[in-house]
Amino acid sequence: MGAVLAVVSQKGGVGKTTTAVNLAAAFARRGMKTLLIDVDPQGSVRYGSGLQRGHPTAGFADYLNGERTLREIILPTALPWLRVILAGSVADEADHATYQQLVRETNVLHDLLTMAEQRCQVVVVDTPPGLGAITRKVLGQTEHVIVPLQCEPLALQTTPQILRLIQDIVATNERLTLDGILLTMYEANNPASDRVVDYVRKHLPANIVFDVLIPRTVATADAFAAGQPVVVRSPADAASQAYVNLATILADRLV
Ligand SMILES: Nc1ncnc2c1ncn2[C@@H]1O[C@H](COP(=O)(O)OP(=O)(O)OP(=O)(O)O)[C@@H](O)[C@H]1O
Ligand SMILES: [Mg+2]
Repeated sequence: MGAVLAVVSQKGGVGKTTTAVNLAAAFARRGMKTLLIDVDPQGSVRYGSGLQRGHPTAGFADYLNGERTLREIILPTALPWLRVILAGSVADEADHATYQQLVRETNVLHDLLTMAEQRCQVVVVDTPPGLGAITRKVLGQTEHVIVPLQCEPLALQTTPQILRLIQDIVATNERLTLDGILLTMYEANNPASDRVVDYVRKHLPANIVFDVLIPRTVATADAFAAGQPVVVRSPADAASQAYVNLATILADRLV
């Protein structure tokens, strides 16, 4: 029996997808049988997860509406131990209402996570920004959650929301543990970035903030643009090493 790890945040653009993709790749590289599932209708996982060019784009949305079988949506990647379920055709549609409704009103996501948990060691779930119905549904069923927090001044204003989010999460599912808040896109020579780190470390309990912080690096953005996890494309990069360290910390907790 494996574990489900969700990556969630109230705020958008904080590095959720980057974290989900790179943690999944780092787990797979450790030889852990890993499945990465994208339930965000934006469907960003397809850009950075190391799928072959010209791969099919059917995914979770197409399984949800009954047009594809599970076998058709579980895609192999360049890493032998990593499989991916993309968001699917919903990512190309302007209207996500039907998708949201199906996620909310059916047990498909619940059943998929249960099955995935039984067959894999780790199931990493990338979620849409905010605490909407999709994210809540995922959180209702996972035992592990990571909240990325971008090292930029606005993060200071969103810290109280993060704390509320954590309370909300625990209220939805008592099995759930907040593994930690992950500081992302840290810039070493930027005083504003340091202020955020200092503030977070001072105001939040140490056991809910990871010691590992993810630096902002050119290689991370480049890897995403090149369609690969940075841990695969540039293993020596500082962000890669941080994600690998984070995977090491989490691997012990998950298995
Ligand atoms: N450590 C990093 N170094 C450099 N660029 C990064 C880093 N982490 C994320 N980025 C870039 O920041 C942007 C936002 O990251 P990402 O897509 O992972 O955020 P997100 O939280 O998933 O966004 P959304 O809320 O829209 O789903 C992307 O262009 C990504 O390449
Ligand atoms: Mg994303």
